[in-house]
Amino acid sequence: MAKDVTDSKGGPAHVAIIMDGNGRWAQQRGRPRLFGHHAGAKRVREIVAACPDLGVKYLTIFAFSTENWKRTQSEVAGLMRLFRRYIEREAMALIEDGVRVRFIGDRIKLDEKLVSLMDNLELATAHNDKVHLTIALNYGGRDEVTRAAQLMALEIEQGRLSHKEVDAETLSRFLDTRFLPDPDLVIRTSGEARISNFLLWQSAYAEYEFVDTLWPDFTAGEFGEILAGFGGRERRFGAATV
Ligand code: FPP
Repeated sequence: MAKDVTDSKGGPAHVAIIMDGNGRWAQQRGRPRLFGHHAGAKRVREIVAACPDLGVKYLTIFAFSTENWKRTQSEVAGLMRLFRRYIEREAMALIEDGVRVRFIGDRIKLDEKLVSLMDNLELATAHNDKVHLTIALNYGGRDEVTRAAQLMALEIEQGRLSHKEVDAETLSRFLDTRFLPDPDLVIRTSGEARISNFLLWQSAYAEYEFVDTLWPDFTAGEFGEILAGFGGRERRFGAATV
């Protein structure tokens, strides 16, 4: 897909967000970390709803990384419960609001009930086109590229692909994100300036914005301000200025 999908208003058409800071937000209030994740889920609803007016056609959010399994068993279980509940509770609104939902990441480690909710939501929203919401769940950039390489190797082994056809374009077709344009802008909340294995391949030419706000405090207003600032940036995709 074309690299530059900047929307007609000059804003980024594909925004990816690392939603960080839920735990600290809860700790500041003397509450358990899961309280912060629940508050974070409410912000997801607000940010998705804001996308059409802000000209954001694709929103990709990092919900759970391949490294997040290292958290305590109770936090992991609570997050998985939250994802199931989010899908159950939000499905109808997402369908009606024209949001197409897709999931990226390895589903193999996720429980059956969650995977079936994910499959059903993808199917139920398959004809929507207003906003494309992609939720990264058990996602890691290196894991994704590794799985893509394995799939490609299998195709070569089975004689359906020649090693001579292996280039960046071909590899992109084996990634979880094959249906997505590359992100124009990656935002990370909570003051950390890291990309933490998120969309490593796809963000080669993305702009980055690191904000101090903790995710549960990140409003549609702040989102809009960041996007307005993006309008003025010059993106050259490696080319020189004249
Ligand atoms: C990072 O904050 C956040 C996560 C690992 C989970 C992200 C999940 C949500 C925002 C909940 C809802 C998502 C969906 C799709 C319904 P952290 O716990 O690492 O915060 P900390 O750095 O302050 O500890």
